[in-house]
Amino acid sequence: MTSSRPQRRSWAEPWKVKVVEPLTMMSAQERQAALVRAGYNTFLLKSEEVYIDLLTDSGTSAMSDWQWAGMMMGDEAYAGSKNFYNLEAAVQKHYGYKHVVPTHQGRGAENILSQLCIKPGDSVPGNMYFTTTRLHQELAGGTFVDVVIPQAHDPNHEHPFKGNVDVDALEALIKRVGAKKVPYVCVGATVNMAGGQPVSMENMKAVRALTAKHGVRIFLDATRAVENAWFIKTRERGYADKSVADILKEFCSYSDGCTMSGKKDALVNIGGWLALNDRDLYEEASNLVVVYEGLHTYGGMAGRDMEAMARGIVESVQDDHVRARIGQVEYLGHKLQEWGVPIVKPIGGHAVYLDAKAFYPHLTQDQFPAQALAAYLYADSGVRSMERGIVSAGRDKATGKHHYPKLELVRLTVPRRVYTQAHMDVTAESVAAVWDQRQEARGLKMVYEPKYLRFFQARFEKE
Ligand code: F0G
Repeated sequence: MTSSRPQRRSWAEPWKVKVVEPLTMMSAQERQAALVRAGYNTFLLKSEEVYIDLLTDSGTSAMSDWQWAGMMMGDEAYAGSKNFYNLEAAVQKHYGYKHVVPTHQGRGAENILSQLCIKPGDSVPGNMYFTTTRLHQELAGGTFVDVVIPQAHDPNHEHPFKGNVDVDALEALIKRVGAKKVPYVCVGATVNMAGGQPVSMENMKAVRALTAKHGVRIFLDATRAVENAWFIKTRERGYADKSVADILKEFCSYSDGCTMSGKKDALVNIGGWLALNDRDLYEEASNLVVVYEGLHTYGGMAGRDMEAMARGIVESVQDDHVRARIGQVEYLGHKLQEWGVPIVKPIGGHAVYLDAKAFYPHLTQDQFPAQALAAYLYADSGVRSMERGIVSAGRDKATGKHHYPKLELVRLTVPRRVYTQAHMDVTAESVAAVWDQRQEARGLKMVYEPKYLRFFQARFEKE
C-alpha cells in the first residue's frame, strides 16, 4: 500500500504553554439572552460570556516568561525610569527612528501627531481609513482622503499587496490641494480595514520618492508593520533571504516617524509610542504628551508595562514567531476557503475576514449585515468576532449621512500566542454552520448610536 502521508513539513509554535486560563462555555439559550442584553453588539458582551474571543488582536496577546520576568523589573520612578530607556533602545534598534515618545496606546500617539501636524482645512491622505486614526485627524480639522489602490475595496481580488498606496491618486491630490495643505501621508501597514493587507517595499519606496519631491512627510501606522514585513519576505522578489527584522527596519526607513499601538505586534496588553526623526517635532511632541498622557518618559504606562513592551518588540521580530503567528491565521482561512465560505482574499496577517455581503445578499447595507453575522456566529458557538462594515465606518463629518464602505466584513481576529489549532477548528466549523443557515438570516436596526466611534457602543434590535 502506498502511504497517503502529505509531502509537507508543518510549522509549529516556537513556544509551549506554561499557564492556562479556563474558558466558560454557556448554553445556546444563555448566549441568546446575553446577545439581547448586549444589543447585538459583540463589544457589549462580557468577556465571561465568550468562549473563543476573536474580537481583536489588540492587547490580547499572551506574554512570554521573559516578558513577565521583565514586569518584575519595573522601575516605577515618575521620571527617567530605566524601562523607558530600554523601550527607547528597542524602538531605535528595530524600527530605526531617532526619538521615541511613549503613549498609553496607539490612539494617544495619533492624537499628539494629529494635533502637532494638522491644521484646519488640511487633507490627510491614507491607504484606507482606520477608525481612531481618522477621527483624530478630523478632530484636528483635517479631512481624510483615501488613496489606497482600488483592488483593496474588492474582497475577491488576489493582489498580493492590496494595502498599497495608489501613487497616481496621491500625486493628483497633492497637485489639486497643494503640498502645503498635505501635512503628511499616513501609511498603514498592514491595512486593518482592507483585511490585514500588506504594503510592498516597492510601493513604500515609490511613495517616498513622490513625497520627497513635494516636501511632504510620511508617517507610518506601524501597528502591524512586523506582520507586513513577513508578507514582503514571502511575496516580494528579493526579500526571501532577508530577516523580518531587517525588512522591518528598511520599511520604516522610508518614513519620518510612526504611531504605534504596542498592543498588537509588540505582544503586550497595553502601551504604544510615537516615534519621530525630526528633533524639533520631537520636542513639541514630548511637550504635548505631558498634557494628555503623562511625562515624556512614561506616557501613561507603568515602568513594568514599558519593560514588557521593550522585550515584546525583541520577540516580535523573530522569523519563527511571525511564521507561526501568520501560519495560524492562514490555517483558519484555508479551512473556510476549502468549504466555500466567502472570505477576503488573500488571507490577511492578523485576521480572517468574512464577506458579509456575500453571506447575506438579501440584506441591504442599512440592515447591518456584518453586525448581524457577528451576532449569529456568537449565538451559534460563543465565538466573538467584530463588525468591520457600515457601523465601523460611521457618518460623513460634513453631511451627517452614513459612510457606505464597499467592504462589509466580519473580522475573526486571532490573538497572538493564545489559541490552539483546535480552537481554530471549532471556529471554522461554527462559521460553516452559520453559512449553511444564511438564507434565514434577518437584519438589524440601530436603536442607540453614540457620537464618536459608534461601533463600540451602538445597540441594535432584530428587525
Ligand atoms: N491603528 C491600527 C491599524 C489599529 O488597528 C489600531 C487599533 C490603532 C491604530 C489604535 O490603537 O487601540 O492602541 O489605540 N486597533 C484595534 C483593533 C482596536 O481591534 O483593530 P489603540
